[in-house]
Amino acid sequence: MSDLARIGVAIDSALLARFDELIEQRGYANRSEAFRDLIRDELVQKSWESPDADVVGTVTLVYNHHVRMLNEKLTDMQHDHHQNILSTMHVHLDHDNCLEVVVVKGKAGAVKKIADALISAKGVKHGRLTITSTGAEL
Ligand code: NI
Repeated sequence: MSDLARIGVAIDSALLARFDELIEQRGYANRSEAFRDLIRDELVQKSWESPDADVVGTVTLVYNHHVRMLNEKLTDMQHDHHQNILSTMHVHLDHDNCLEVVVVKGKAGAVKKIADALISAKGVKHGRLTITSTGAEL
């Protein structure tokens, strides 16, 4: 970690009270750690705006594996982009439903396209791209 800098922040007291309540619920030890996480989250969000940025994330999918050819289609899509797919975890949730978590890495533009294609595949009940960071610049 680089040198610590101390800053003063002027904030409306009612807003601060709400913030304190929120960070207590989330289990933060202090405001500084909560502020640092908020800043890091904004920086991660910002890093994904550039299509050429190197990013990492996860795509979570819930789908019914009885939907004809869906399983095969999702697997084919992942093979087509194997250079961006690091790993896939598959969980059989119940008799009908599957949960898949796909770890994706690469240029933000490419990763978003892959995530959109997986999530919008017919038969996928719910999907979400979670964007995160390699941690190198945080
Ligand atoms: Ni399954």
